[in-house]
Amino acid sequence: MSEVANKNQLFYVDELAAIEEEEPREVLAGTMTLVVGKWNGEVYAVDGICTHAYAELAEGDMDEHCLYCPLHLAAFDIRDGSVIDGPTDQPLSTYEVVVEDGQVWINLG
Ligand code: FES
Repeated sequence: MSEVANKNQLFYVDELAAIEEEEPREVLAGTMTLVVGKWNGEVYAVDGICTHAYAELAEGDMDEHCLYCPLHLAAFDIRDGSVIDGPTDQPLSTYEVVVEDGQVWINLG
């Protein structure tokens, strides 16, 4: 097992090659609901629940680095969680993504 895998704050997601570009994917990490998205070869992780009301962002669409809420179409930048447009001004929390040996992990620490 790699050095990264032994750090227990890391949550395994998938192989990098298995994560599709601009296809948001829900990740349940313990009690946390996150969304992982890939754009331009980079993987990002943000909170999976919209900051406006209750909506699972993995049910929305992604266009380039823009993640859209399926309920009222808030748009978040998945790279930094910031609000691009919509009925909320509350950004999403972001999480560090670690890629080692083609494996993708989220740092929950
Ligand atoms: S719940 Fe996401 S924009 Fe309203």
